[in-house]
This record gives sequence, C-alpha cells and structure tokens, in this order.
Amino acid sequence: MAIRTIIRDTDDFLRKKSREVTVFDKRLHTLLDDMADTMHAANGVGLAAVQVGTLRRAVVIDVGDEDGVIELINPVIIETSEEEQTDAEGCLSFPGQYGMVTRPMHVKAQAQNRHGDLIEVEGSGLKARALCHETDHLDGMLFVDLVEEVLERDDEDDE
Ligand code: CO
Repeated sequence: MAIRTIIRDTDDFLRKKSREVTVFDKRLHTLLDDMADTMHAANGVGLAAVQVGTLRRAVVIDVGDEDGVIELINPVIIETSEEEQTDAEGCLSFPGQYGMVTRPMHVKAQAQNRHGDLIEVEGSGLKARALCHETDHLDGMLFVDLVEEVLERDDEDDE
C-alpha cells in the first residue's frame, strides 16, 4: 500500500479516455489498494485511476457509510433517477475548487470487482454523485464541465 501522486487540473492527461481492464491480477489489486490509500490520505470520497496516472477503467469510492471502500472496475451507469440533486462538488485533482453540479438523486452502476466478477452498486445523494463523477473521469469528463455556478475558491482547503 502506498500513496500515489494525484494529477492536478493543469495536466491534459485528465482528458484522456481510460481503457477497459481485462486482466484482474496482482498489479490491479496493488493499484486499487494504493488508490484507496491515496483517496483517504487526501480526505476524498472518490478517486479514478486516471488521477494517479493510470489509464485503466478503475475507480474507488468511500462516502463514509457502512459499505466502506467500493472498488469498481469497468463501471457503467445503468440506471439514473429522474429526480435530481444540485449540490457543491469538488475533485481531488482541483484542490480548493468547488461548484454547483446537478446529478441524478439515485443511480445504479454495473461493474466488476477486483476478481472480475460482475457486481451492481446503487447509491443516493453523495454516493450517486460520486458514482457519476468517478465514472465521468474514465471518459475524460471533469466536474468543471458541468458546473452551473462556481463557488468561492478556498485555498486553505485540501492544499
Ligand atoms: Co474527480
């Protein structure tokens, strides 16, 4: 387990599309362990592999609920509620930067776990927001693309 460097917003690497994971080996497991460590060390609720410089479709999420760390490999959002939520959103690659983003209130994602087994994960509120945000990262989409209102930058935070 190790903490990796998080790529910042100034790097075009975050715009690259990640590749499907087809090998579920020890290297993937190390990546996932390191991603969880890196996310926790940065007090984040989600992290995509592209943010630590690896173009693989892998994300980790931990919104602090009873599920703990959720690992999603090759995630796809398969259901979204009509009901929406608009709330402040940020990203570990954009320290101190927040904006209002509208997301579905509830989403269901299909993915694989670290062993390649199919799994489904559902979430509401913050968890739905994290599922959308992290899945977007895999296609080079960033929350700043969706911000409706920029909130005041707080440089004391997250730096
Ligand atoms: Co992000």
